[in-house]
Amino acid sequence: MTDSLPAASTPAVPAQPPAGSPASTLLLFSWLSAAIFSLYIVIFYGGAALLGTMERDWNEVLPRLYARAATTANLMIGMHFVTGAAMLVLGPVQFMSGIRTRWPAAHRWSGRVYLACAALAGVGGLAYLSLRDPVGGQVMALGFGLYGVLMLLSCAQTLRHALARRMCEHRAWAIRLFTLGLGSWLYRMEYGLWLNALDWPGHATGTFDGPFDLVMDFFYVPHLLVAEYVIRRRPALPGSVMKAAGAACAMLLAVVTWLFASAYWLPHMRDQLARLA
Ligand code: HEM
Repeated sequence: MTDSLPAASTPAVPAQPPAGSPASTLLLFSWLSAAIFSLYIVIFYGGAALLGTMERDWNEVLPRLYARAATTANLMIGMHFVTGAAMLVLGPVQFMSGIRTRWPAAHRWSGRVYLACAALAGVGGLAYLSLRDPVGGQVMALGFGLYGVLMLLSCAQTLRHALARRMCEHRAWAIRLFTLGLGSWLYRMEYGLWLNALDWPGHATGTFDGPFDLVMDFFYVPHLLVAEYVIRRRPALPGSVMKAAGAACAMLLAVVTWLFASAYWLPHMRDQLARLA
């Protein structure tokens, strides 16, 4: 898709923002927030697998997520949990220019692990969808199915361009893949914001087929549009606008993470750790 774009239109990954700037604070907050989500996935879902309480715990989060008789679907969604969590933590490491330039071999190796995790998260999610109906029905199956296909396409393109040393295209696809991975976490953040700020208009509890839910089945589309803007940077916004936007997003993210973590992730982790102890 980007093969024909001239190099100037697909600039290298933006340089790492200076420490303390709104953009670097936003990156740090995003990573911390996504890391809490990953930890929650491992402790809550993994803990339930260890305790043999998947039917109670997994289905408390999403009705019918686990079914005792559906062994393959359970394994596939479980694999997608583990690899998805790893993907969230590893993603930002690939964009650290210090690591890329100083230790290129480390960048390549963590890139391979990242790509493998992304591909397995996509395959696990798609396999689950081919075996079971998601909670939100056919529209959710369509939206999440497309999400999985885009994830696999981005993995293949990122790898293909890296192997062929087409670095502009490689970076463009790596940004798309990173954005898709981050989307799974942003999706929860967006729901959390809707819940706390607006009290769920358009959400159907238990069936996820309200108007808001239907729009959210395609949650990754606006994220990908932002990624395309970052890749192309046409027209560039003034630095002061970028700074103000970075600071506003960082503040919003900190508040939403706190609301979501204190109401949901942290109590679930605490209770699961107490059961495991
Ligand atoms: C970074 C990547 C990903 C992470 C961290 C992730 C995480 C999760 C988590 C934690 C759940 C359980 C529900 C919850 O606690 O909110 C879930 C459900 C699910 N995910 Fe993912 N996911 C990722 C990528 C994907 C992809 C690429 C697909 C594409 C097919 C996908 C498809 C699904 C499906 C179908 C469900 C079950 C929905 C249902 O039964 O209603 N996920 N995911």
